[in-house]
Amino acid sequence: MRLWVSLTLLAAVLPVGLSLALTPAAAPKDNAQEPAKDPATIRASYRRPDVVPFPSTNPYSEAKSALGRMLFFDPLLSRSKTHSCASCHKPSLSWADGLPRAIGEDPKGLPIRSPTLIDVAFFEPLGWDGKFKDLESVAFGPILSPMNLNMTEPELIARLAAIPGYVDAFNHAFGDGAITRPRIEQSLATFERSIVAGEAPFDRWIKGDESAISASAKQGFELFNGKGRCSSCHSGPSFSDGSFQDIGTAKGHDIGRGRFFPTSAKLKYAFKTPTLRDVARRAPYMHDGSVATLEDVIELYNRGGIERPSRSPDIRPLSLTTDDKKDLIAFLQTLTATAPPVAGIPKLPR
Ligand code: HEC
Ligand code: HEC
Repeated sequence: MRLWVSLTLLAAVLPVGLSLALTPAAAPKDNAQEPAKDPATIRASYRRPDVVPFPSTNPYSEAKSALGRMLFFDPLLSRSKTHSCASCHKPSLSWADGLPRAIGEDPKGLPIRSPTLIDVAFFEPLGWDGKFKDLESVAFGPILSPMNLNMTEPELIARLAAIPGYVDAFNHAFGDGAITRPRIEQSLATFERSIVAGEAPFDRWIKGDESAISASAKQGFELFNGKGRCSSCHSGPSFSDGSFQDIGTAKGHDIGRGRFFPTSAKLKYAFKTPTLRDVARRAPYMHDGSVATLEDVIELYNRGGIERPSRSPDIRPLSLTTDDKKDLIAFLQTLTATAPPVAGIPKLPR
């Protein structure tokens, strides 16, 4: 069961650059259907929701979210006390890090790119290969990973318990000051669910402001939903249906979701369809940071990738013209929120 908390309520208490002018929309999960033919219906299917889903097992509370926000930005979560969640999910870089591969405590780095956290509330499972069943279960992945934050659970709990401000914050959020792994997971997840896409020119256009985006971008939106076939995976308000797909690029042992489903022909080389919110600000692209620019992304889709049994039927040579490519990029650029997130580092208890 999910409880839906209004974005306007979250905007009042959270630092993440939300617009108060959200329009009512259907629950986002219902929008991930096949796009209809009628242009007005297609546009409506991308309307930002005005509520965020919270699981009934971890309902929203302001105190939990405030605690999660402190934990998210706190370098005490790393062995060297120099890295935090925000080192790789930086608000100023659309909650990613701008690197082809993430770098944590181990200077050699991780084999994958840090994804944005924009709109994570709307997707499960998480991770490029879907290894995390929900947001709560992500937190101790990076915390315990020797390459990432390289902590242990007892050490982290001891560090936090030594700081009266944290004991107070846990008390405030959970009714007593006990610091436990599930409480850390729940607080971080509650904060992360507040990280939602800010209003972009595209949103103003679908609400009726014809001057919000260019003619080229409007043409690009049509290609996105038509000839380009993009919307068969990048659908709904977050521009993702949350599905795992082989777009014909990964090679060798990099088999993505196939790792968990070794007998599935379709999931070999399948990775999570990422949101396209703020995409123009989030280069380089893909799970391995292998594609440098949006122009290169479009070229890749135009070629259609490696033909093999796992490749999605929606990935195939597209015969895009030079103008088509420009229009698609102009459209993708309209998905960048105009007010950048204002979340700064909160005051950390010490
Ligand atoms: C060293 C960089 C780094 C740090 C630090 C880091 N992450 Fe991540 N994060 C990543 C990478 C890389 C992935 C992709 C992991 C995968 O797909 O297996 C990821 C994935 C995620 C996801 C899933 C997003 C999605 O769309 O699937 C969430 C949520 C997340 N991290 C939250 C956190 C939290 C909370 C912390 C702090 C406890 C944290 N991260 C610390 C790099 C980092
Ligand atoms: C079959 C489903 C599917 C279709 C169709 C599709 N995509 Fe994707 N898209 C994905 C997946 C899956 C990824 C991530 C692949 C990876 O990480 O290796 C992705 C990644 C991207 C990225 C990089 C985002 C990021 O954060 O790294 C962009 C940009 C993008 N797609 C745009 C498009 C456009 C434009 C089209 C139409 C021309 C399109 N996609 C068609 C599934 C699809």
